[in-house]
Amino acid sequence: MVSNVRVKGRNRDRLRDVSLALSAGRTLAVVGESGAGKSTLIAAILGLLKPSEGTISWNGAPTRAVRPALVIQEPRAAFNPVLSLRRSIMEPVVAQGIVLTEGRLQRLCAGLELPEEVLDRRPGEVSIGQAQRAGILRALIAAPPLILFDEPLSALDAVTQKHTARLIFDLQKEEGFAALIVTHDLGYAVAYGDQIAVLKAGRIEEIADADVFAINPRSDYCCSLRDAAIALGSLEVAA
Ligand SMILES: Nc1ncnc2c1ncn2[C@@H]1O[C@H](COP(=O)(O)OP(=O)(O)O)[C@@H](O)[C@H]1O
Ligand SMILES: [Mg+2]
Repeated sequence: MVSNVRVKGRNRDRLRDVSLALSAGRTLAVVGESGAGKSTLIAAILGLLKPSEGTISWNGAPTRAVRPALVIQEPRAAFNPVLSLRRSIMEPVVAQGIVLTEGRLQRLCAGLELPEEVLDRRPGEVSIGQAQRAGILRALIAAPPLILFDEPLSALDAVTQKHTARLIFDLQKEEGFAALIVTHDLGYAVAYGDQIAVLKAGRIEEIADADVFAINPRSDYCCSLRDAAIALGSLEVAA
């Protein structure tokens, strides 16, 4: 739960009066142009930045206490280049002293369509799509209640994007984590988000259920975002 959060910046606030709710099994898609404050929001939820006003909590505790997981934008940069993917993936498990249930790694690999032998390679020895899915695996392995995705599909080609979006969606149904997905792709946001939040210059311009937003965005800014996504072919809205 993010309530009335303000994060100060040098010249203007990086976030201003931002409130939103994240709940188990649901996806909030955060859309906004470069500099809107999307990564700042993620850093604040992770506890890496302290808001100057407002509160961020999860079931009454500070969010960082539940160890939310992060999937970063650049898949290979998420991994230590000299370690096997397996070592990096198991790092949160080892660090938290978690004992994995029998077959969990294998099940997640299957769900992500990631052959397990790929995990014994280094990040430079796998395709970008495999590195991306390994990053998602690392986020999922310790079963966090909340996963933050910062532009998770931006390094992938269009076909792999669709496929990976579907895999994340299916895994969420099984694992039940709450997801916050930052994206500039409104079509993806509407297809896989339960709610859409549009950030503009550090403020929430609009927050709405995804199907409502796609048909009837309220502000001129959100209408222009929606119309641009339709023109690009990323969003289809039934007439
Ligand atoms: N480490 C930082 N210190 C101060 N200001 C920053 C820092 N990182 C980003 N900003 C500023 O905060 C605002 C939001 O940036 P950011 O959250 O990175 O946007 P987005 O992820 O939506 O592109 C921008 O004005 C940016 O210049
Ligand atoms: Mg960013």
